[in-house]
Amino acid sequence: MKSVKSPLSVLFVCLGNICRSPTAEAVFRQIIVNRMNEGSLLRDMSIDSAGTGAWHIGSQPDSRAIAAGRTRGYDLSSLRARQVSNQDFSQFDFILAMDNDNLRNLRNLSSLNNFRGHLGLFLDFSPSSETEVPDPYYGGSEGFDHVLDLIESASHGFIDYLIKTCD
Ligand code: 4NP
Repeated sequence: MKSVKSPLSVLFVCLGNICRSPTAEAVFRQIIVNRMNEGSLLRDMSIDSAGTGAWHIGSQPDSRAIAAGRTRGYDLSSLRARQVSNQDFSQFDFILAMDNDNLRNLRNLSSLNNFRGHLGLFLDFSPSSETEVPDPYYGGSEGFDHVLDLIESASHGFIDYLIKTCD
């Protein structure tokens, strides 16, 4: 990773930026608030999300993602979808993909943009045996619950990692 600057910044990325990555943005932001007293770097983090695809630019998160998040106290309603841009590779320290397809696309963009930060799968930071956050878009509401389980676990693992390595 390039030298740690303040604020530390993280971008969560999925395909549409209406289901998984806005969920990650909202969950991670809330868990950071809950664990704020564990490390000074947590007090000043920049957190965002984006999609590799362009279909949903400007849209609110999927209503099922908003509803699932709300049942656990996360508010996604103010978020709006955007597409990953070249500028993101000069702005973020961590770019974390929800699955390998998106990671592959991000790797291509990152080499074009000389990215010096950490690019990888979000679930690399989770103790879960699953390596990808599955796309819930074409499934039922249980898929959105599973996304929340995986993202909550990876958020805690990522914060543990940040406290251990960057603080
Ligand atoms: P996301 O889910 O990548 O988690 O936001 C999807 C949202 C929309 C589509 C695919 C995945 N879509 O094909 O429109």
